[in-house]
Amino acid sequence: METTSLQRGQWGSRIGFILAAAGSAIGLGNIWRFPYLAGEGGGGAFVLIYLVCVVAIGMPYLFAELSLGRKSQRNPVGAIMAITGPKSMWIAVGAFCVLAGFIILSYYSVIAGWAVGYAVKDVIAPTMGFEEFAASPGIVIGLLAVFLLLTLVVVVGGIEQGIERWSKILLPILFVLMVLVIVRSVTLEGAAEGIAFFLIPDFSQVSLDLIIVALGQAFFTLSLGMGAMITYGSYLSKREDIAISGGYVVIFNTAIAFMAGFMIFPAIFAMGVDPATGPALVFVILPEVFAQMPLGGLVSFTFFVLLSIAALTSSISLLEVVVSYFVDETSWSRKKSVLIIGGLTFLMAIPSALSQGAVDIFSDMSFLFGEGGILGQNDFLSILDYLVGSAGLAIGAFFLSVFIAWIWGASEAAEELKQGSTILTRGMITTWVFMMKWIIPLVVAVIVIGNVLGVDV
Ligand code: TRP
Repeated sequence: METTSLQRGQWGSRIGFILAAAGSAIGLGNIWRFPYLAGEGGGGAFVLIYLVCVVAIGMPYLFAELSLGRKSQRNPVGAIMAITGPKSMWIAVGAFCVLAGFIILSYYSVIAGWAVGYAVKDVIAPTMGFEEFAASPGIVIGLLAVFLLLTLVVVVGGIEQGIERWSKILLPILFVLMVLVIVRSVTLEGAAEGIAFFLIPDFSQVSLDLIIVALGQAFFTLSLGMGAMITYGSYLSKREDIAISGGYVVIFNTAIAFMAGFMIFPAIFAMGVDPATGPALVFVILPEVFAQMPLGGLVSFTFFVLLSIAALTSSISLLEVVVSYFVDETSWSRKKSVLIIGGLTFLMAIPSALSQGAVDIFSDMSFLFGEGGILGQNDFLSILDYLVGSAGLAIGAFFLSVFIAWIWGASEAAEELKQGSTILTRGMITTWVFMMKWIIPLVVAVIVIGNVLGVDV
């Protein structure tokens, strides 16, 4: 139906799609999560394993999500329904995707709000340390509202005029700002040690846990496992080459992760700070590092602006997953969907926003999860991140990969992948089909088990 596809919207150009999908991939995962995992995981060895996981596992699975989306031209629920008909149990997997998008968006926006706040921290809260800042209800909720509003404004504009247009503006800005911070960071005295830590593998650090964490990060960073790439794929034309465009998404996303390493580790080592400080790395350690360096105020401002931009291009894709469901499957307009879901996301985000010390029951949920919490954490935000953003995504990726390879059928999926592609050879297709049927479900199952057992670097 031509009219339906017109109402749904489509990407206006190849580069527009690539930048939008790369924008989804590039986010807090690259600039906050990847550096702290690399810092804890011993540097270069983690980086190398991560690279292999992204290329060998993440990329082929990315092609699968994009193919399912383009085949069906639908949101994750509609995409599965298009293959199975309306009565299948598999539709629950699509519903999980939409719900996961909603939940991840809620707490992701809280962290993104902190980034926005840190960009202007000298103005709004110059003397506060991170703990006090994150525990101030007025500040964190105000910032959350600002960030969510930006997300809504982009998504309400639709695919080409909203998401694509803003991605084309924001990603180049992100790139330039990162280059500026890198120049400052690598010209500090003692920077070389940080680069060596980041690039030279020390294989004595490698363990099965580390590999599982790197695999999980490969899925997280490419926005996989919850249908974001099904949704973005659904706005692709049949003429588009999924392998080439998807390949560029992987290249850009990986480049930004490496650039994040070049921003952060030289500065950390130059200032003599321990890289293995975990999630606090970006919000606690970096501001201290910036404060000590020449031009630090400017560098700090630039860094947190770029972090906010990276988060924004990801949050729009999280919202788009949910919005596309309501646009496709109900009579709601895009505007109505965005307003209602935006409002609900704000409400859902409040407990996460208040979970870092502002309100006791959200900050310490030991009444539900016991003294040990989950992986030692007991605040609402960290628990959602574990249940949905980590274990949930792995479970989602498991069911989606089994669905694509065995219910839709890997050979059928390969037909869609081949459509419009000029670079895929027969051998590549055969390898892809084999990977999709056997290797990827198996590997993802290992990530699920690792998550349930609580791997931690
Ligand atoms: N890839 C995003 C990042 O690196 C985070 C993310 C995970 C995500 N899953 C997603 C973003 C789904 C959008 C949609 O920060």
